[in-house]
Amino acid sequence: MMATLNKVGAAEAPLPDVLTMQNGVKVTSAAMWQQQRRPEVLELFRKNVYGRAPVERPANLKFEIESITPDMMEGKATRKQVRISFSGPGGAGAIHLLLFVPNHAPQPVPCFLLICNRTSDNIDLTRAVKSPFWPAEALVARGYAAAAFHVSDADPDQDDGFKNGVHGIFDKPGVPRPPDAWGTIAAWSWGASRVMDYLQTDTSLDAKRVAVVGHSRGGKAALWAGAQDERFALVISNESGSTGAAIARGKHGETIKDINQHFPHWFCQNYKSYNGREQDLPVDQHMLAALIAPRLLYIASATEDTWSDPPAEFRAGVEAGPVYKLFGLTGLSAATMPKPDSPVQDGHIGYHVRTGKHNLTAYDWDCFMNFADKHFGTHKAGSTR
Ligand code: GCU
Repeated sequence: MMATLNKVGAAEAPLPDVLTMQNGVKVTSAAMWQQQRRPEVLELFRKNVYGRAPVERPANLKFEIESITPDMMEGKATRKQVRISFSGPGGAGAIHLLLFVPNHAPQPVPCFLLICNRTSDNIDLTRAVKSPFWPAEALVARGYAAAAFHVSDADPDQDDGFKNGVHGIFDKPGVPRPPDAWGTIAAWSWGASRVMDYLQTDTSLDAKRVAVVGHSRGGKAALWAGAQDERFALVISNESGSTGAAIARGKHGETIKDINQHFPHWFCQNYKSYNGREQDLPVDQHMLAALIAPRLLYIASATEDTWSDPPAEFRAGVEAGPVYKLFGLTGLSAATMPKPDSPVQDGHIGYHVRTGKHNLTAYDWDCFMNFADKHFGTHKAGSTR
């Protein structure tokens, strides 16, 4: 079966029907999706792929504004450093949120939150280092707040038997981990939601226009965060590949077996039973994309990123379309892959494939902001361009 799937490729492999319930009943309305199928699909991903977080917002979650610096970026932005702390049976932890809020845009401003999986100089708080991975100045110039946190605050990216990070803090001490216990990607998604808990309290920000963004492994986390947490108005996956935006069945490049072998801590134990058995998974990644509906979704690929498999990423967007349609919305406005560097942005799902390598670049961010301008409506109010 897998040999056949690989031959047709993820662009054509047969997929589970996003609108057919496990009991065979067809979903025919937005209400039925929202009340019945959506929870079912979420549960299938929890049980089989990302694992189950033992806690959502901890009762003791605390926000401390550590600093407010009003004259950053030559007076164009106010920097805030916020410590988001929590504790559980295994100890205490904190996420350090870095936020730049434009000084010259009407507040409350929309916001892009990056789940940063690269070294922390990419989100330099002094701005001495300006990485295209997080172009905070460009975001601010276009009237967006730039927010970021580093994944290691939620969980270091190490296969350490789930001792450090939020696993060690919230998992029940002395109890063996169940096969659907959360992995590292789910821990990062959890972190994004705790940041959202704070963003909702900051009156300079419009919490109804927050985009969560991630690249590669961070993109997998952004999708899972957005799938679960309906407060994110826009979810952006940059080259998230396997177990991110890319369809698993028939996928070229990284397979489920590859990812589970190289990164055994990213997903739940149950996911390993699908190594080489993609066709037996009750889900595929178009169903993850569909969990974002009716909110905004953006999927980005790069031509040379064959490990992620761009056609497999594009297809997930296409196949999420029927769910958007239930809401009377267009998902992707193209049925076939666009040419490189020709973004498709008219529908509620945006897509582009950039020329070049696996990376998150200024071009990608520009496309994300264009999409947000178009669909958040900030080009009318709030942009400083
Ligand atoms: C590896 C991994 C990918 C992941 C990527 C990244 O290549 O196989 O699944 O997306 O790292 O995070 O850069």
